[in-house]
Amino acid sequence: MTSKEIRKTFLDFFKSKQHSIVPSAPIVLKDDPTLMFSNSGMTQFKDFFLGYKEPKNKRTADTQKCLRVSGKHNDLDDVGKDTYHHTMFEMLGNWSFGDYFKKEAIEWAWELLTEVFAIPKDRLYVTIFEGDNDEGLDRDLEAYNLWKEHISEDRILLGNKKDNFWEMGETGPCGPCSEIHVDIRSDEERKKIDGKDLVNNDHPHVIEVWNLVFMEFLRKADGTLEKLPKKNVDTGMGFERLCMVLQGKDSNYDTDVFQPIIKKIEEISGLTYGDNANVDIAIRVLADHVRAIAFSIADGQLPSNSGAGYVIRRILRRAIGYAYRVLQIKEPILHKLVPVINTQMGDFFPEISKQEKLISEIIKEEEIGFLRTLDQGLQRLANFMESNPGLKVIPGEVVFELYDTYGFPSDLSRIIAEDHGISIDEKGFNMEMNKQKERSKSATNFKNYDWVILEEDEVEEFVGYDFLDTHVKITRYRKVENKEGVFYQLVFQITPFYAESGGQVGDIGYIENLNEKIEILNTKKENNLIIHTVKELPKYPEFPFHAIVDIKRREAITKNHSATHLLHEALREVLGKHVEQKGSFVGPEYLRFDFSHFSKMSSEEIQEVEKIVNTKIYERLELEENRAVPFKKALDMGAMALFGEKYGDLVRVIKFGNSVELCGGTHVKNTHEIIFFKIMSESSSSAGVRRIEAITGETGMNFLKDQFSQYDRLKNFLKQTDDPLKSIEKLYLENDQLKKQVEQLNKEKANHEKLIWKNSINVVNGINYIGLITDLNAASVKDLIFQLKKEISNLFIIIGTKTEQKPTLSLGISDDLLNLKNLHAGTIIRELSKEIKGGGGGQPSFATAGGSDTSGLENAINKSLNYLQ
Ligand code: ALA
Repeated sequence: MTSKEIRKTFLDFFKSKQHSIVPSAPIVLKDDPTLMFSNSGMTQFKDFFLGYKEPKNKRTADTQKCLRVSGKHNDLDDVGKDTYHHTMFEMLGNWSFGDYFKKEAIEWAWELLTEVFAIPKDRLYVTIFEGDNDEGLDRDLEAYNLWKEHISEDRILLGNKKDNFWEMGETGPCGPCSEIHVDIRSDEERKKIDGKDLVNNDHPHVIEVWNLVFMEFLRKADGTLEKLPKKNVDTGMGFERLCMVLQGKDSNYDTDVFQPIIKKIEEISGLTYGDNANVDIAIRVLADHVRAIAFSIADGQLPSNSGAGYVIRRILRRAIGYAYRVLQIKEPILHKLVPVINTQMGDFFPEISKQEKLISEIIKEEEIGFLRTLDQGLQRLANFMESNPGLKVIPGEVVFELYDTYGFPSDLSRIIAEDHGISIDEKGFNMEMNKQKERSKSATNFKNYDWVILEEDEVEEFVGYDFLDTHVKITRYRKVENKEGVFYQLVFQITPFYAESGGQVGDIGYIENLNEKIEILNTKKENNLIIHTVKELPKYPEFPFHAIVDIKRREAITKNHSATHLLHEALREVLGKHVEQKGSFVGPEYLRFDFSHFSKMSSEEIQEVEKIVNTKIYERLELEENRAVPFKKALDMGAMALFGEKYGDLVRVIKFGNSVELCGGTHVKNTHEIIFFKIMSESSSSAGVRRIEAITGETGMNFLKDQFSQYDRLKNFLKQTDDPLKSIEKLYLENDQLKKQVEQLNKEKANHEKLIWKNSINVVNGINYIGLITDLNAASVKDLIFQLKKEISNLFIIIGTKTEQKPTLSLGISDDLLNLKNLHAGTIIRELSKEIKGGGGGQPSFATAGGSDTSGLENAINKSLNYLQ
């Protein structure tokens, strides 16, 4: 079977067991502070396990794009070195949200693997949880007895908490699990060593393919376990590993998932996969990493300097590091692999096929940038070794600086150092690494305490589209700590506060009752709860409150949000339909909009866009808001779904004239409320993505007011009310002419001065001496001294100048005199500058000094004669 057929067979199988097949969630997570990326299939269903939300179908299956490169599940360092770990992989999964449990999960897994996929039963082993005394958990005998129906008992192995109790993170849903392992070794090898002994022993050919998790617990922040409201099933099968097994290969990289990418790398590098162990590792790293990078970009996460973007940047740099030093490819290569990924996966994952060009472009820019840095890093390392001859060990701080500033992996520094017979201080480097980890830990340090529940079964509702104040009751609260201090978070049964999402910032305001008034500092969403942050916990949290949103701020935000929609539409009209939103920020002061477009906008284009948006404002377009449109119908209405966003079955559609968007934000009732729209800047956000910042409403009016008042001041100053531009042009012209005249006069003056200097020559001890004070500027003095040094032999010339009451001395000595006598202008001027209370220095033949006492100039010049004795 091809990989495409294998994926389809899995999904069809679970469809036949009444599962809904859903699309993969975006790989990058948006509102979960505990996790950056989807690291397993269940991530998008967390709310169903926790009971925050009801699923449409209690049976669901999909293939999920996963990334295990940070946090609890991090395989990055192994990738490439072995043949069965990946950064990005697909996880095939089936779920029961309080529906079936262990019996069906086990039965169906067995049926699919042994009957549909026909994996021989004598190649399979299963594990069950052995129990854990400290946690008070029993051995999973239920699973054991169920497995016994299908597989002989000597193939059912016990596993400890590490292997057989699955948890999504430090907190969250968890439970005992049963893993299915496959032994794909040859019969000969299987005879030699029993497969049983190789299970969970990092053997590349005796590997786990499927994990069945029986989720019934919640790990709380205090470390204890609590029963979930219902019993659930969460399974995850490694798609690439399954392909390896079914395609009879020894390695995931030999399957048709990776082979086309590897072939392309061979073609570009001229190397062959399978010839050399180090080259093979590098090729695997490239083939693996480019998928992770491409899929993250497709879901809207561009490489950047912080957070998830930085993780992506580091993956890309790891890949380039391998290409550069192992494959000797010193040019961008990763972007050339994107079309291959598209051919392989584009028809199942439209986020790739629809954005292929953009993804390649972004990767290419990033590659070019890093290769430049890499060169600088290599130079820095070479300089360090050169300026420290006899060096035996490169200090840890230097290796760390290369790593931190230039993204240089430490093994690259090591290899280069070894070429010079030097080693690197690994210990020192690790110490610096740990220090940095501590630093970033304390920078992002946060701790969420467990929720205190005041009202069970709360359903939280956002009423802030229609109301900006309302009565609320607190249903739960918790304490949180972060680098800014201790805060409390409150959840209400209904709330008028908009939680930060879709680029729009969260509302602020306050809640009050007769007892107390508490400021709401921020509102955000976390796992679908709307969370209000406050500094002080209410003294009586169980009392009702009146909640009031900061109206002025909300109105300013709302204007900016609606203007963002009009801007999006105008950009598509002016620049073309390739323009798509790539990110936005909608705050009270301004809006920022990132969109796909490949070149800088001309000022005509910017003006045209401004004109269109302002016209829509004057046209007084009514808001057409529809809060519950079936997703497909919304697309038919012309709304655009953004990649990387998760949409429900019913979506909110916001329409102003031709602008139709899927949007959960707040909007003006009529576009005339926006008042005025002005683009303040247009710049590059990253390769292929432009960024516009703009203002509206009162901020826009204030901006106009400022501009008018500046303009008035300008007109007054120029005493020209009709056409100040004409006056300025005239002034510029006059200024140019005057400049030229001044230059000419300076030249004439210098020539005249030169004659005076020449006539003042005194011959002292056979030396031609000139010493005088002039009012020429410093540049002319220097120029004249150099001219005279060439024209007059045995010359010693010292000139004093006064500019703006500051004295300077310039001393020139002709080369023939220097050869004859042991003179040094720099040393002499340093001595003489004492007379003018200053200091200076320079070359043997020319030196200058500045000072603060002009009255000493004469003395200094007289004193210079002493040097001629
Ligand atoms: N969530 C389970 C895993 O990732 C299935 O292994």
